[in-house]
Amino acid sequence: MKESFNVKRLCENAGNEAEEIATLEKEIFSDAWSEASVRETLKRDYNYIYICCDNLTGNIKGYIIFSIVCDEAELLRLAVRHDMRGRGLGEILVGIMVDEVKKKGTADILLEVRKGNAPAINLYKKQGFYEIGVRKNYYKNPDEDAVIMKRIS
Ligand SMILES: CC(C)(COP(=O)(O)OP(=O)(O)OC[C@H]1O[C@@H](n2cnc3c(N)ncnc32)[C@H](O)[C@@H]1OP(=O)(O)O)[C@@H](O)C(=O)NCCC(=O)NCCS
Repeated sequence: MKESFNVKRLCENAGNEAEEIATLEKEIFSDAWSEASVRETLKRDYNYIYICCDNLTGNIKGYIIFSIVCDEAELLRLAVRHDMRGRGLGEILVGIMVDEVKKKGTADILLEVRKGNAPAINLYKKQGFYEIGVRKNYYKNPDEDAVIMKRIS
């Protein structure tokens, strides 16, 4: 990847990054997290938010939110800005989660994804996740099944 960017973990007293994530959430997801949800997430030390920012502007290009509790990790959110997709950022962000989980000695990572979300499902398979089940009509707006995926470290 040729673009210059910088990856960092957000801490509890994050500045306008929480607001920027909430703005991206609104653009990308029908069940967008609010800025308050992002800030609430940051209060728990078992939650992790990593952002990938443009080195020059500081703008967030993509982010990943996950939790590591006891022996299990869960991917909560992953998004890359529309104009930055297809350049390997999603893979970098998932790789950061996998590395963090390995560091903690955690066994499994679980996630849910819309059944029709081929880009995300392909990305997760490429990163070693496999399907373990389906939750019928799990998502709303629009209604859709969730595929549950797991990765064993
Ligand atoms: C899913 C998402 C994070 C992928 O990010 P990205 O930076 O574009 O992905 P990458 O460039 O790292 O691609 C990695 C792999 O993902 C898969 N992939 C990515 N975009 C794809 C597409 N449009 N169609 C099919 N597969 C795709 C491919 O396997 C790709 O590997 P390849 O380049 O060797 O073919 C991005 O599309 C996104 O933000 N989507 C909206 C939010 C979302 O759906 N989040 C996941 C919720 S569970």
